Amino acid sequence: MQNNQRSVVVLISGNGSNLQAIMDYSVSGNYSVAGVISNRPDAYGLRRAEQGNIPTAVLNHKEYASRDLFDNALADAIDRFEPGLIVLAGFMRILGADFVKRFQGRILNIHPSLLPDYPGTNTHQRVLDAGEKLHGVSVHFVTEELDGGPVIAQESIAIEDGDDAETLAAKIHQKEHVLYPTVVSWFADGRLRLEDNDAYLDDRLLPESGERIT
Ligand code: GRF
Repeated sequence: MQNNQRSVVVLISGNGSNLQAIMDYSVSGNYSVAGVISNRPDAYGLRRAEQGNIPTAVLNHKEYASRDLFDNALADAIDRFEPGLIVLAGFMRILGADFVKRFQGRILNIHPSLLPDYPGTNTHQRVLDAGEKLHGVSVHFVTEELDGGPVIAQESIAIEDGDDAETLAAKIHQKEHVLYPTVVSWFADGRLRLEDNDAYLDDRLLPESGERIT
């Protein structure tokens, strides 16, 4: 375990409400946010970081000729903050295999579905279209497989009559804002690890659905 495991860099592309929750928790929590990086110059999350006096960097992916060049620049920008953990919070770029290898076991993502169901985008509408009764959110280690790394924790919500993609997104966000800082704090305390594509919490192999909170 690295001695900077309590230092976190958050990657965003948009609103950054999860970033806000992670920043808020850090004030009296066991980790600190060393920096925030966005691939979009207009991401509202950058304002949130500035308001919290957290250094920011923008790497506009459109200014890079290839995915590899962007990934390399991003990795270098991350290293400048010397974090132990990289937290993807609504970061809408797919990261290549070399990037993932460079930060093996040190990248988390949050995804709005009960993985391994519904990887990819537009999950709320797809869940509704399929007539599901249960939806939820997953925090997982990032591996080379998109939304496919081992799940660390999940929380579910019931789908009620009258729910639409918007109400589901709001319910999911509420859960995310508690779940994500909690998992980050586990990592900060050295309780989490990725080994051979499995996630462990307190040396306990987690099941496919991770630690189910509710
Ligand atoms: C969240 O719903 C997260 O699960 C998904 O992107 C959304 C980001 O929201 N990966 P925000 O920018 O944190 O408000």
